[in-house]
Amino acid sequence: MTDTAPSAPPCEALAHLKTALRKNRRHAHHRYFQLASVTAEGYPRNRTVVFRGFATDDQTLLVITDSRSDKVAEFAQNGAAEIAWYFTETREQFRIRAVTSCISGSTGSTEDAALREQVWRQLSDAARAQFFWRSPGLALGAGTTLVTTEAVPETFALLKLSPVAIDHLVLSKVQTRRHSQLIDKHWHEQWINP
Ligand SMILES: Cc1cc2nc3c(=O)[nH]c(=O)nc-3n(C[C@H](O)[C@H](O)[C@H](O)COP(=O)(O)O)c2cc1C
Repeated sequence: MTDTAPSAPPCEALAHLKTALRKNRRHAHHRYFQLASVTAEGYPRNRTVVFRGFATDDQTLLVITDSRSDKVAEFAQNGAAEIAWYFTETREQFRIRAVTSCISGSTGSTEDAALREQVWRQLSDAARAQFFWRSPGLALGAGTTLVTTEAVPETFALLKLSPVAIDHLVLSKVQTRRHSQLIDKHWHEQWINP
Protein backbone atom coordinates (compact mmCIF):
# COMPACT_ATOMS: atom_id res chain seq x y z
CA MET A 1 0.00 0.00 0.00
CA THR A 2 1.34 3.41 -0.88
CA ASP A 3 1.46 5.85 1.98
CA THR A 4 0.66 9.53 1.55
CA ALA A 5 2.11 10.78 4.86
CA PRO A 6 4.28 13.83 4.22
CA SER A 7 6.12 13.42 7.54
CA ALA A 8 7.92 10.17 6.70
CA PRO A 9 11.56 9.67 7.75
CA PRO A 10 14.23 10.65 5.22
CA CYS A 11 14.67 8.66 2.05
CA GLU A 12 18.13 7.91 0.66
CA ALA A 13 17.00 8.73 -2.88
CA LEU A 14 15.97 12.20 -1.71
CA ALA A 15 19.46 12.67 -0.29
CA HIS A 16 20.81 11.75 -3.75
CA LEU A 17 18.44 14.27 -5.32
CA LYS A 18 19.84 17.00 -3.06
CA THR A 19 23.38 15.99 -4.02
CA ALA A 20 22.39 16.13 -7.71
CA LEU A 21 20.94 19.63 -7.20
CA ARG A 22 24.24 20.74 -5.69
CA LYS A 23 26.47 19.09 -8.29
CA ASN A 24 24.42 20.44 -11.23
CA ARG A 25 23.86 23.93 -9.89
CA ARG A 26 26.01 25.61 -12.55
CA HIS A 27 23.51 24.45 -15.18
CA ALA A 28 20.28 26.46 -15.34
CA HIS A 29 18.32 23.31 -16.11
CA HIS A 30 18.78 21.97 -12.60
CA ARG A 31 15.90 24.21 -11.51
CA TYR A 32 13.39 22.78 -14.01
CA PHE A 33 11.53 19.50 -14.05
CA GLN A 34 8.63 17.98 -15.91
CA LEU A 35 5.46 17.56 -13.92
CA ALA A 36 2.70 15.26 -15.13
CA SER A 37 -0.93 15.17 -14.03
CA VAL A 38 -3.89 13.11 -15.21
CA THR A 39 -6.72 14.85 -17.05
CA ALA A 40 -10.41 14.26 -16.31
CA GLU A 41 -10.46 12.07 -19.44
CA GLY A 42 -7.61 9.94 -18.06
CA TYR A 43 -4.85 11.25 -20.33
CA PRO A 44 -1.39 12.12 -19.02
CA ARG A 45 -0.63 15.86 -19.16
CA ASN A 46 2.95 17.02 -18.84
CA ARG A 47 4.60 20.44 -18.48
CA THR A 48 7.85 22.07 -17.40
CA VAL A 49 7.90 23.91 -14.07
CA VAL A 50 10.44 25.65 -11.85
CA PHE A 51 11.51 23.89 -8.67
CA ARG A 52 11.01 26.35 -5.79
CA GLY A 53 12.78 24.36 -3.10
CA PHE A 54 11.63 22.08 -0.32
CA ALA A 55 9.01 22.78 2.34
CA THR A 56 10.05 22.90 5.99
CA ASP A 57 9.89 19.08 6.25
CA ASP A 58 12.80 19.03 3.74
CA GLN A 59 11.01 16.41 1.61
CA THR A 60 8.03 18.09 0.01
CA LEU A 61 8.84 19.78 -3.30
CA LEU A 62 7.36 23.19 -4.03
CA VAL A 63 6.10 24.62 -7.30
CA ILE A 64 4.18 27.79 -7.96
CA THR A 65 1.39 28.11 -10.46
CA ASP A 66 -1.71 30.04 -11.44
CA SER A 67 -4.80 28.77 -9.61
CA ARG A 68 -6.75 29.19 -12.87
CA SER A 69 -4.46 26.84 -14.81
CA ASP A 70 -5.62 23.41 -15.96
CA LYS A 71 -3.15 21.58 -13.75
CA VAL A 72 -4.79 22.94 -10.59
CA ALA A 73 -8.19 21.53 -11.61
CA GLU A 74 -6.53 18.26 -12.60
CA PHE A 75 -4.73 17.89 -9.27
CA ALA A 76 -7.92 18.80 -7.39
CA GLN A 77 -9.64 15.86 -9.07
CA ASN A 78 -6.68 13.48 -8.93
CA GLY A 79 -3.73 14.38 -6.71
CA ALA A 80 -1.41 11.89 -8.43
CA ALA A 81 1.63 13.52 -10.02
CA GLU A 82 4.86 12.35 -11.58
CA ILE A 83 8.04 14.39 -11.81
CA ALA A 84 10.73 13.59 -14.39
CA TRP A 85 14.03 15.32 -13.72
CA TYR A 86 17.27 14.80 -15.63
CA PHE A 87 20.60 16.24 -14.54
CA THR A 88 23.12 16.51 -17.38
CA GLU A 89 26.30 16.97 -15.32
CA THR A 90 25.84 13.83 -13.25
CA ARG A 91 23.76 12.01 -15.91
CA GLU A 92 21.02 10.85 -13.60
CA GLN A 93 17.26 10.80 -13.82
CA PHE A 94 14.79 10.97 -10.97
CA ARG A 95 11.19 9.97 -11.56
CA ILE A 96 9.21 10.90 -8.53
CA ARG A 97 5.63 9.86 -7.91
CA ALA A 98 4.05 12.38 -5.61
CA VAL A 99 0.78 13.24 -3.94
CA THR A 100 -0.15 16.83 -4.65
CA SER A 101 -1.90 19.42 -2.56
CA CYS A 102 -2.61 22.93 -3.73
CA ILE A 103 -2.47 25.92 -1.41
CA SER A 104 -4.38 28.88 -2.77
CA GLY A 105 -5.94 31.89 -1.10
CA SER A 106 -8.80 30.05 0.53
CA THR A 107 -7.18 26.72 1.40
CA GLY A 108 -4.55 25.31 3.72
CA SER A 109 -3.49 25.53 7.34
CA THR A 110 -1.99 28.63 8.94
CA GLU A 111 1.45 27.12 8.32
CA ASP A 112 0.62 26.57 4.64
CA ALA A 113 -0.70 30.12 4.30
CA ALA A 114 2.54 31.45 5.80
CA LEU A 115 4.60 29.32 3.42
CA ARG A 116 2.58 30.56 0.43
CA GLU A 117 3.10 34.15 1.54
CA GLN A 118 6.85 33.55 2.04
CA VAL A 119 7.28 32.06 -1.46
CA TRP A 120 5.31 34.98 -2.95
CA ARG A 121 7.56 37.53 -1.22
CA GLN A 122 10.65 35.84 -2.67
CA LEU A 123 9.46 36.24 -6.29
CA SER A 124 10.78 38.87 -8.64
CA ASP A 125 8.38 41.61 -9.78
CA ALA A 126 8.28 40.03 -13.25
CA ALA A 127 7.28 36.65 -11.83
CA ARG A 128 4.58 38.24 -9.67
CA ALA A 129 3.16 40.25 -12.56
CA GLN A 130 2.07 37.06 -14.37
CA PHE A 131 -0.50 36.35 -11.69
CA PHE A 132 -2.40 39.51 -12.66
CA TRP A 133 -2.60 38.57 -16.34
CA ARG A 134 -5.68 37.18 -18.09
CA SER A 135 -6.63 33.56 -17.34
CA PRO A 136 -4.06 31.15 -18.75
CA GLY A 137 -5.34 28.76 -21.39
CA LEU A 138 -8.27 30.89 -22.64
CA ALA A 139 -8.45 32.18 -26.22
CA LEU A 140 -6.01 35.06 -26.76
CA GLY A 141 -7.45 38.24 -25.23
CA ALA A 142 -10.31 36.45 -23.42
CA GLY A 143 -10.83 36.91 -19.68
CA THR A 144 -9.94 39.94 -17.63
CA THR A 145 -6.71 41.15 -16.09
CA LEU A 146 -6.61 41.64 -12.32
CA VAL A 147 -5.91 44.87 -10.50
CA THR A 148 -2.32 44.72 -9.24
CA THR A 149 -2.22 44.68 -5.44
CA GLU A 150 0.41 44.40 -2.77
CA ALA A 151 -1.53 41.51 -1.21
CA VAL A 152 -0.97 37.97 -2.46
CA PRO A 153 -3.52 37.48 -5.26
CA GLU A 154 -6.04 34.61 -5.24
CA THR A 155 -4.49 33.43 -8.49
CA PHE A 156 -1.21 32.58 -6.78
CA ALA A 157 -1.14 28.89 -5.89
CA LEU A 158 1.58 26.85 -4.24
CA LEU A 159 1.72 23.16 -5.18
CA LYS A 160 3.11 20.84 -2.55
CA LEU A 161 4.43 17.59 -4.03
CA SER A 162 4.92 14.91 -1.44
CA PRO A 163 7.06 12.01 -2.78
CA VAL A 164 5.70 8.47 -2.36
CA ALA A 165 7.97 6.63 -4.83
CA ILE A 166 11.29 7.48 -6.49
CA ASP A 167 12.95 5.76 -9.43
CA HIS A 168 16.59 6.84 -9.59
CA LEU A 169 18.55 5.95 -12.75
CA VAL A 170 22.27 6.74 -12.99
CA LEU A 171 23.85 6.59 -16.44
CA SER A 172 27.46 6.26 -15.44
CA LYS A 173 29.80 3.58 -16.90
CA VAL A 174 28.03 1.03 -14.75
CA GLN A 175 24.37 1.99 -14.93
CA THR A 176 22.40 1.69 -11.73
CA ARG A 177 18.73 1.98 -10.96
CA ARG A 178 17.06 1.97 -7.61
CA HIS A 179 13.39 2.06 -6.74
CA SER A 180 12.25 3.58 -3.46
CA GLN A 181 8.70 3.42 -2.18
CA LEU A 182 7.01 4.80 0.89
CA ILE A 183 5.10 1.97 2.55
CA ASP A 184 3.49 2.34 5.97
CA LYS A 185 5.53 5.48 6.66
CA HIS A 186 8.87 3.84 5.84
CA TRP A 187 10.93 4.04 2.69
CA HIS A 188 11.70 0.67 1.11
CA GLU A 189 14.54 0.69 -1.39
CA GLN A 190 15.46 -1.92 -3.93
CA TRP A 191 18.15 -2.08 -6.61
CA ILE A 192 16.63 -3.06 -9.93
CA ASN A 193 17.93 -3.79 -13.43
CA PRO A 194 18.44 -0.52 -15.29
C1 LIG B 1 11.24 26.77 -18.47
C2 LIG B 1 9.78 26.81 -18.10
C3 LIG B 1 9.45 27.00 -16.76
C4 LIG B 1 8.10 27.03 -16.39
N1 LIG B 1 7.79 27.16 -15.06
C5 LIG B 1 6.48 27.12 -14.68
C6 LIG B 1 6.13 27.16 -13.30
O1 LIG B 1 6.99 27.21 -12.40
N2 LIG B 1 4.81 27.11 -12.99
C7 LIG B 1 3.84 27.02 -13.95
O2 LIG B 1 2.66 26.97 -13.59
N3 LIG B 1 4.14 26.99 -15.25
C8 LIG B 1 5.44 27.02 -15.64
N4 LIG B 1 5.76 26.96 -16.97
C9 LIG B 1 4.66 26.88 -17.96
C10 LIG B 1 4.11 25.43 -17.97
O3 LIG B 1 5.04 24.59 -18.63
C11 LIG B 1 2.72 25.34 -18.65
O4 LIG B 1 2.82 25.77 -19.99
C12 LIG B 1 1.69 26.18 -17.92
O5 LIG B 1 1.82 26.09 -16.52
C13 LIG B 1 0.26 25.74 -18.30
O6 LIG B 1 0.11 24.38 -17.94
P1 LIG B 1 -1.31 23.70 -17.70
O7 LIG B 1 -2.24 24.27 -18.76
O8 LIG B 1 -1.06 22.25 -17.90
O9 LIG B 1 -1.78 24.03 -16.34
C14 LIG B 1 7.08 26.90 -17.37
C15 LIG B 1 7.44 26.69 -18.69
C16 LIG B 1 8.77 26.64 -19.05
C17 LIG B 1 9.10 26.40 -20.50
